[in-house]
Amino acid sequence: MSLSRIPEIREGQSIELLKELHILTRDGKLNQDSRRKLKQICHLCHFIEPLLAEIASRGGGPSVVDHGAGKSYLGFILYDLFFRQRDRGHIYGIELRQELGERARSLANRLGFTRMSFLGMSVEEAIESPLLPARIDLVTALHACDTATDDAIRFALRKQAAYIVLVPCCQAEVAAALRRGKGEALAATPLAEIWRHPLHSREFGSLLTNALRCLQLEAQGYQTMVTELVGWEHSLKNELIVARHTGAARGNAAARLEAILQELRLETLHSRFALPPHGQPPAPAGGAPDHQPPGT
Ligand SMILES: C[S@@+](CC[C@H](N)C(=O)[O-])C[C@H]1O[C@@H](n2cnc3c(N)ncnc32)[C@H](O)[C@@H]1O
Repeated sequence: MSLSRIPEIREGQSIELLKELHILTRDGKLNQDSRRKLKQICHLCHFIEPLLAEIASRGGGPSVVDHGAGKSYLGFILYDLFFRQRDRGHIYGIELRQELGERARSLANRLGFTRMSFLGMSVEEAIESPLLPARIDLVTALHACDTATDDAIRFALRKQAAYIVLVPCCQAEVAAALRRGKGEALAATPLAEIWRHPLHSREFGSLLTNALRCLQLEAQGYQTMVTELVGWEHSLKNELIVARHTGAARGNAAARLEAILQELRLETLHSRFALPPHGQPPAPAGGAPDHQPPGT
């Protein structure tokens, strides 16, 4: 198939970059797996670009941190579509696996993507890292494993992010807690039938985790929107959560979060969804001051 007939590739998008990322083969072909990945990333970029434009229009960088970046497909494609034609803004990729960061750094150098940095550390470490600015405009976590998504939320709250864009991955923690308390819960409430079977514990645990994440964000003054990233044929981990800081906390969100944890006997998860202890209020949506990345 010729490049002009590949609908996932956008006008002006760098073919060289897609080849370097091994999304396109050297002779410009796209296999089924790459097509899925490209479709997913480009769909996510459609959600993110207007948010970046809004931040930029208010004078913000924008600064973006992508957690659990992996091969940094999202960071590179966002840079190509949005940052390359501008002279401001910075993308940071956070990734545990050092070798992926090294590869991404060398690709960014080759492509002249000078406003990208790759930090080999965990999301949790990134919260306190002096290598990142005190404020970040937009935080993403695309399929960041298990509780790395929750750490990304804590990171975003600490950095007073105007926007948080999450596509959560597998979630094991809540399902494990549901399983541990199942006997007691079954004796106490017929609702426990919802997670009696192991498969249902996993699925309900996943759904519940994301509902609790939304409440956590709403209690912190974010408005949340939950939708599908792309059709189910493309990925099973398909839920997209976009949170926008408005400054107006939903009145009953914190109380409801607590009530759900109590009702489902999940009090041990309290600290996972608790509000941040350092409690600086997030900035209003639309732009942390522009910055120079500290020492990256
Ligand atoms: C499923 S991959 C997704 C990669 C990329 N976001 C994408 O969608 O193509 C998850 C990545 O997150 C990284 N990861 C997992 N836990 C992490 C953590 N706590 N901190 C930083 N990176 C983490 C893994 O090493 C892996 O590269």
